[in-house]
Amino acid sequence: MVVVVKIGGSILGEGVNPTILEDIKDAFIHHGLLLVHGGGKQVTEVAEKLGKTQTFIVSPEGIRSRYTDKETVVIYTMVMVGKINKEIVSALHGVGINAVGLSGVDGSAIMAERKKKLIVMDERGRKRVIEGGYTGKIKSVNSDLLTLLLRSNYMPVVSPIAMGEEGELLNVDGDRAAAYVAGAIKADKMIFLTDVQGVMMDNRLILRMSGTQAKETMPRIGFGMEKKVLAAVEAIEMGVKESIIASGLVENPIKSAIEHKDCTVIYPG
Ligand SMILES: Nc1ncnc2c1ncn2[C@@H]1O[C@H](COP(=O)(O)OP(=O)(O)OP(=O)(O)O)[C@@H](O)[C@H]1O
Ligand SMILES: [Mg+2]
Repeated sequence: MVVVVKIGGSILGEGVNPTILEDIKDAFIHHGLLLVHGGGKQVTEVAEKLGKTQTFIVSPEGIRSRYTDKETVVIYTMVMVGKINKEIVSALHGVGINAVGLSGVDGSAIMAERKKKLIVMDERGRKRVIEGGYTGKIKSVNSDLLTLLLRSNYMPVVSPIAMGEEGELLNVDGDRAAAYVAGAIKADKMIFLTDVQGVMMDNRLILRMSGTQAKETMPRIGFGMEKKVLAAVEAIEMGVKESIIASGLVENPIKSAIEHKDCTVIYPG
């Protein structure tokens, strides 16, 4: 069994549960594990400190994303690859895991097509077309490279950056990057660890839903979780047997997610 785990930027740093490292190690040894990380909030914090105001746009489907101009993609890469990825890799080395940090640019791990134009909703709820900037739609994942590392007992730790067709650095969403990686390496499970237990609806945690049901709930899910549900569905549509959205703040979060404790499980169908 191979699992792909996406660690949300929301659980990195201060409040992180100390058991997570040993838990990752355990799953790595017993199942095979590849990590993908996020870090949107950290990117925004550093960008603002550098005096670069961040703006967010919402697509007609209700998906919220960072507007990534040329300066922003540089800051995004600096924080994701230079800071967050290296912090995770060194923490993993601290518990004896031979982790290898990669962005999607390294070894063409993630290739994407730059979105030349974006359709966004303005304040009055009307559609507008704007310049695309530096975000991409993922086209391919170099599964050979990732499985080569896994088979040699290295744990790939992937940052959500992709390489465009003209060699540009592109911002790709962490949840969706994880889903595409999981699909490409034919992972059995895609686990999203975040700062809440799973998908909440009418103040209750949804325990199980099919991909079709998950798609139906999307318009009623708020920002942050909407992208995770979309990515969870994409993963199962690419052949992953189940997607799990769970809290990364509890003890042994991966073990707990694999046992389906207090989390949302999305299954094919
Ligand atoms: N229906 C919902 N159920 C659960 N959480 C929701 C819902 N709607 C919105 N959310 C928000 O989604 C957030 C999780 O997504 P968020 O993008 O903030 O974290 P992350 O993906 O773990 O981190 P990062 O984006 O940095 O990788 C929750 O903290 C919650 O506030
Ligand atoms: Mg997120």
